[in-house]
Amino acid sequence: MAATFDFTSKVVLVTGGGSGIGLATATEFARAGAKVAIAGRKIDRLEAAAAEMRESTRAEVFCHAADVRDLEQCQALIEAVVGHYKRLDVLVNNAGGARHAALRNASLETWRQDIALNLDSAFFCSQAAYPHLKSAAAETGHAAVVNISSLAGNNGTMGCGAYSAAKAGLQMLTRVAAAEWGPKGVRVNAVAAGMIATPLAKANWAKVGFDATKACAAFPLRRPGEPEEVAQAVLFMASTSASYITGETLIVGGGPQIKGMIDTDD
Ligand SMILES: NC(=O)c1ccc[n+]([C@@H]2O[C@H](COP(=O)([O-])OP(=O)(O)OC[C@H]3O[C@@H](n4cnc5c(N)ncnc54)[C@H](OP(=O)(O)O)[C@@H]3O)[C@@H](O)[C@H]2O)c1
Repeated sequence: MAATFDFTSKVVLVTGGGSGIGLATATEFARAGAKVAIAGRKIDRLEAAAAEMRESTRAEVFCHAADVRDLEQCQALIEAVVGHYKRLDVLVNNAGGARHAALRNASLETWRQDIALNLDSAFFCSQAAYPHLKSAAAETGHAAVVNISSLAGNNGTMGCGAYSAAKAGLQMLTRVAAAEWGPKGVRVNAVAAGMIATPLAKANWAKVGFDATKACAAFPLRRPGEPEEVAQAVLFMASTSASYITGETLIVGGGPQIKGMIDTDD
């Protein structure tokens, strides 16, 4: 998939950029000319991803280990990126994930961890990044935050109550940050992903015999999405092509939210 956006001389941080949707997103930004920073807990995974990205795109890639559930580590992450590149134009709050537990017996630990990973993290990183994004916007007219939400945050997913609530909360954080920071030129949007065939998801599906194509049979597009298809939506939201869009959540899910009673397939 060829990059169609130009991020030359822009600095982009992608949390959870060492794998899955985050890696695809960081790679697309690198292909589009950005200087990229990726963060996650495992430095080995980040370094391996960065080496691959440098090789395939020739872009500059900076790695920093951080647990984004922790306020001080998020602050240190932003300072490390700005210390390295001297600026920050785009923040992608991508690190996230779900623990499965029915509400009737979900533990407090499960609840808190999913809220921390999917919602606290975006608040911590965005708040720490805002002064730098504001400076970039003052200089160039554009800076952006893109939060990776989920269709679970729109529709809810049984067995993922905390995750669904966190991803819905992330969409509202997106709107309030957009309202507060728009006057300074910092746009804030979200991308709500549907069922995406990341390497980890595919391995998990294979382990339990889950047939993803069958599960998508009622979706208008009849298949799971690819990480690069989410990445392209993120690049659009971060780009000047989206310069008059803020506070929105763009669904990248193949259309399962559209319900139909009659099969009109021809
Ligand atoms: N795949 C899907 O079908 C799907 C659907 C809807 C939404 N999403 C959302 O898309 C985003 C990416 O998902 P993915 O499927 O690409 O997941 P993934 O392959 O599991 O990648 C998640 C990344 O986040 C990092 N991460 C996890 N916990 C972290 C923590 N506490 N601090 C810092 N980094 C952390 C991981 O690195 P370390 O382990 O090294 O920390 C990893 O690189 C998530 O927000 C997810 O909720 C995914």
